Order: sequence, then structure tokens, then C-alpha cells
Amino acid sequence: MPRKVNYGVDYDEVYGDYEDYFDDSDIESDAGEVPEVEQDLIKPGTWRCSICTYDNDESMPFCDICEVFREPSSICNNGNNRTVHNMCEESGASIMAKSLFASLPHQKQNMAITFQRQNDDFMRKETNNFCRIENTQGEFYDFHNAFKPPNCSYPVIIGLPPFKFDCPSPDDLVSRGKQSSKAVSKGALVSITEKNGSVRTVPITGRQEYSSPLASGRQLPANETTRTSSEDNLHSLTNSLSMNLEVNSERSRNVTTRRAASPAQYKPEAWMLSDNEEGSKNQLNLAIVGHVDSGKSTLSGKLLHLVGRISQKEMHKYEKEAKLKGKGSFAYAWVLDESAEERERGITMTVAVAYFDSKKYHVVVLDSPGHKDFVPNMISGATQADAAILVIDASTGAFEAGMDSNGGQTKEHAQLIRSFGVDQIIVAVNKMDAVEYSKERFELIKQQLGMFLRSCGFKDSSMLWIPLSTIENQNLVAAASDGRLSSWYRGPYLLDAIDSLHPPVRDVSKPLLLPICDVIKSHSLGQVAVSGKLEAGALRSGLKVLVMPSGELATVRSLERDSQSCTAARAGDNVAVSLQGIDGGNVMAGGVLCHPDFPVAVATHLELKVLTLEAAMPILIGSQVEFHVHHAKKAARVVRILSLLDQKTGKVTKRAPRCLTAKQSAVIEVVLGEAVCIREFSDCRALGRVFLRASGRTIAVGIVTRIIE
Ligand code: GTP
Ligand code: MG
Repeated sequence: MPRKVNYGVDYDEVYGDYEDYFDDSDIESDAGEVPEVEQDLIKPGTWRCSICTYDNDESMPFCDICEVFREPSSICNNGNNRTVHNMCEESGASIMAKSLFASLPHQKQNMAITFQRQNDDFMRKETNNFCRIENTQGEFYDFHNAFKPPNCSYPVIIGLPPFKFDCPSPDDLVSRGKQSSKAVSKGALVSITEKNGSVRTVPITGRQEYSSPLASGRQLPANETTRTSSEDNLHSLTNSLSMNLEVNSERSRNVTTRRAASPAQYKPEAWMLSDNEEGSKNQLNLAIVGHVDSGKSTLSGKLLHLVGRISQKEMHKYEKEAKLKGKGSFAYAWVLDESAEERERGITMTVAVAYFDSKKYHVVVLDSPGHKDFVPNMISGATQADAAILVIDASTGAFEAGMDSNGGQTKEHAQLIRSFGVDQIIVAVNKMDAVEYSKERFELIKQQLGMFLRSCGFKDSSMLWIPLSTIENQNLVAAASDGRLSSWYRGPYLLDAIDSLHPPVRDVSKPLLLPICDVIKSHSLGQVAVSGKLEAGALRSGLKVLVMPSGELATVRSLERDSQSCTAARAGDNVAVSLQGIDGGNVMAGGVLCHPDFPVAVATHLELKVLTLEAAMPILIGSQVEFHVHHAKKAARVVRILSLLDQKTGKVTKRAPRCLTAKQSAVIEVVLGEAVCIREFSDCRALGRVFLRASGRTIAVGIVTRIIE
């Protein structure tokens, strides 16, 4: 019954005072302000630290903030520090500087390397040849040499301990910004060559608001672009498809972009705006997130069983199979964990999608993987959430492991989910049976995690805390029956809490936008179907849609929601759409179905406003990152760090800083290895939220403030 799908990435407001970071109003009011990128001058009577760029008083022999010595050679000569091969054993570099590269692989000392700056890239000179430093993360030795003042000739030693941010860096004093430097490229146009050879030009703008997604099926891993399934997979979806597809991939349409004076007005048709079909409930996309093994899949499976979506007979089958494999305790998780590998390993790897009806909602369950290796998949799927259940393992040591900043996923998931724009969260404190339903344990978890969630920007009024036990069926779909819990907890049970969530706001009055999560093709039948969540607008059979980035037009042949065919779908619905009149090669996951007159931009060079996360590795000019946006994931390089922003005022506090460390807000530019379908955040939240990841962790969340190319 559940489908597995992989969705892309995305994000909204972030943490604490960061709450209004993504306010549209901020973005709009900031239009036209482009942070200057020139270095500001060093004030007289100060010297600038070559590592953290803090301007120190002349009298300071070392940086007040990061402790880099201004003239380290003097330290070497003071008799307390020995020298080795004329290199000072105490490098003179700060703990902060050391941290920049301590965690990086392949640290080796290079001899006689010099750097020259060229078009925002640092070029390394080795004999007469120049080679581009592709991997920014580089080496400490190289980096130090690149940035040290020209009159400084001291060597540095590598092999350094990790930096602990135990005192505020100068950049910590800034951060969080509301500045947006959008100015360019608004109102760009796309020229579409029609089949008859005529060219028409349409604007690429048109505001949409974020809503939520879902489709039925299996979400592909974020790094897969498309999936070609067997014809069976396509059957339920497209069995009525005719075979006369018009394949014109040879004449792929020429899509180019250029500026436009103003975007055309969009007028939705009456059927698009009409309310949900009679009797149908509001759809609520509910992400189930949390640390590995906290019980997310078991909770989802049990819930589906208790509300009648999984019959007793089916459940019996799962139990029998799980027992046979020696995994009896995973029987409910097997409802969602369908693949042999997931069952074998006892972990969820891709987001599973399932449905049930509560009193108020048609709930779409997005059961996310908790293991850190599958965070990209979690991002991809949970980005469509309207609300979330954060599952916590209450057992002794397990809650603490989830909260650990290094290995735990509780914090990362909470940060990500908040940055997807989700502001309603149910904290399901699970496995209370393992702690004898202790009120003290529950209160401790509530107090510690509550503090963190508040710092992420969740309001007390939008957090619901429920102690429960999935295994012992306490507080799931009825009030707790175990006296040890009912004696002190009188709040809502889980199903009640779900119904108490506010309905998500949908924007059906904007032009169609459906980021493609998954593609199913049948070469033999010549059929193509896509699935994803409608972020804006509406769809129905017969409608012409533009498939980006290929720029091909296609016609909607049929629609399916929750594995049932339907006549129309509107913003917020997760649907499978079969298309005709297009070659499968022109449809890809990470693409977007749009209104033919309002295509998304396709770009490689973007300006972002980002917030670096706690424990994030430093971001330097040239840093290679994974760029995630909706269902697309691309390699990217940071080409500029334009400015640091003050989170309180939104003002630029430092121009062109050398690097970004944890918890800083900044405006940066990235260049992607391949073009993505994108919108500015102010135009469409869902297509304008991005995540940067490196070395297996999310290092920054951000929004697109300007499409440069
Ligand atoms: P990932 O998807 O891999 O992150 O794991 P998960 O969070 O989905 O956990 P899963 O549902 O696979 O459950 C992990 C283990 O926790 C299984 O052995 C479950 O039986 C057990 N478990 C789940 N809920 C409870 C509970 O309420 N009490 C106890 N004691 N064990 C539970
Ligand atoms: Mg799971």
C-alpha cells in the first residue's frame, strides 16, 4: 500500500531570531540592494587578521578573536617555542584557522605553492603551470599562504586539532540577515519554439506561494534522476494511454532566456479555483522525522493499521515474515520499509508514502529515513510537508544520542523541517514503555528538546508534546489505558493532535508548478508519467503543460491521486500525471511541469542568502558543495561570499568575508555544475529554498535571492 518516493530539498525560515529571515516583505523591500563585493579598507590604527578578517588594534600582537599571531616569527624566537626545519612548531595559526581544514581528507603539505587570484578562483602556481583549485576545502597550508598578508613570510604546520566555537568570532557578532540583493533578471523571458517552427516568448516570472506536495509511489533517491520501471509500474497509472505518442526529441525545442519588461498577468480559470470535490477532505502532508531507530516506521505502520488502512490479515502476514527473518519487532515497520535491503538492515532508506483519513484530513504520511546517510532522501521527501511528527526515542541514552550534535539526527531533522517552512510540529516521545512511562523523563526531554526547537523558530503554541508507546499502543488513536501514563498525562492522543493541526494554505490561483519527483517511463509503450506535489495552480486531463528544463510541451493524459484516478488536482495535492506528446528523454526528475506561459527559470549561477548551521564546516570561496533544491541535486561551487548580514537589522556588516563559519548569515553566489529549474524565493517558496551539504552533512540552508544567469 505505501509508495516509496524521493523528493528534493527545500527550506524556509530558520531558527530563533532567524524566524523572519525569509519574510517575503523583507525580500521585496530589499529589492535593488546589491551588496558590494569590494573589500572594505583596513581602518588606520588596525591590522586585519589574515584568517578571520577581524580588524585588530595595532597594539594587539595576535588576533583578538581567533588568536592568529600577527608576527608569528617573534613567537618562534622567544625561546619557549622550538623550531623544526626553520618552521615554528607553534604554527601561529588560531584554533579557528586550524579547524578550517582539520576535518578534511587528503591533508598533505605542499612545497612552494603560491596563489594568484583570478576571476574569483584561486590559481595555484606550480612551476609555470596554473591549475584551478577545484576543491576549495583545500589544505590549511595552501589556504594560509593564499590569505596571509604579503609581508608575512612565516610558515605554518598542519595536523591540527578541531576548532571549538567556544567564543564568539567576529562573524558571530553579525549573522542573520534580511538583505536581499535581488535586482537583476526579474522578468526574464523564455522563447519557445513551437512544433510548427514559430517562436513565442513568455515571461519566466509569476508569484507563487509555497504549499505542500505528495504523490503516490516510491520516491527515488535524490541522486537518481529518473527511473525506468517495468510496464507493470505504469499500468495502474496509464493503462488508458494511447500509443500514438508524438516523439519529437530530434527537434528538441530551443529554450533561451532573456530579460522582459514585466511578467504577463495570469488569470486562473474558474475550474482551477473551485473547492475540493464534495466530500473530499483537505490533504495534509505529514512528515515523520527523527533520529534513526526512534520508531518512525513502526509508528506509521501501527497508525495505518489502527485506522484500518492495513487489514488484520495483512498485518498478520508482515508479522509472520518478520519473525521468520528474526526481525519480529520490525513487523509494523515492514509496512513502510518495503525493500529487501531496508528489511534486512532494519532501517528506512527512502521516504515511504502512505495515506489514511482522520476525522478532518486526508493525511499523507511521509515516513523519512533517520539514518544520517539518507538525509538527502529525507530532505527530498519531507520538503513537501505541511506539518511534521518528530519522533523521539525516550529510552535511556537514546534520546541523548539523537541530540548529539555530531552523530544525532534529531537536531538536523528539526532544523531541516523548520527550514522547509513547516511551523507546526508534534513531538511524539515514543518508547515510553522503556522508561516505565516516567513523567520525569518526559519532562526532561520536553525541557531540553523544547529549548532547541524554540531556537529553531518553532513557537510554543505550535508544538504539541505527546508521550506514547507505539509497541504498547498507548496514546496513538485513543487516550492511554496504562495507569502509569494516564495518571499524569491528560493531553491529546496522537490522532487527535493530527486533527488539531491548522489546515495548510494552498495557492490555487497561481500558474501551475509541479516539481517532478519521479518519472516512470515505458519505452515499449512510449508512455511517460511523472509524480510530485502541485506547488501551485491546478491540473486536469487535456491541459497543455510545459516540461522544463527541456522546454517541451506535453498534454496531460490522465491523473491519479492516492492510486485512484481523478479528474483534477490542485495545489497541495500529490499526484501522478501521465503525459502524452512528449518523448521520455525530455522528462526528468528534478524538472518542473509549468504553465506554458509561465515557465520556471533554468539557471546555473545564483545568488543565495544562507544560514550556516551549527557544527557546519567552514564555507570558503571555491568550496564544493551539494546543492539541493526541490527534487534536484547538483554539484556546486561557492564563487563569491558577498557579505555577512546582521540578523537583527538585516544590514550588511562585513563585505567580502574570507569564510563563513557556523551560525552565520550571508549572501553568497554559487555556480552549479548543471542548470536547475529554479525560482526566486520571493516568487515561489518551494522552488526558491535551497540546502547546501558537504561531507555528508547539511552545512547551510538558504533561499534564492537572485537568478544571475
Ligand atoms: P529508521 O527509519 O531506520 O530511522 O528507524 P525508525 O525510526 O523507522 O525505527 P523503526 O520503526 O524501524 O523501529 C526501530 C526499533 O524500535 C524496532 O525494533 C521497533 O520495534 C522499536 N520500537 C518502535 N516503537 C517502540 C516502542 O514504542 N517501544 C519500544 N520498546 N520499542 C519500539
Ligand atoms: Mg524507518
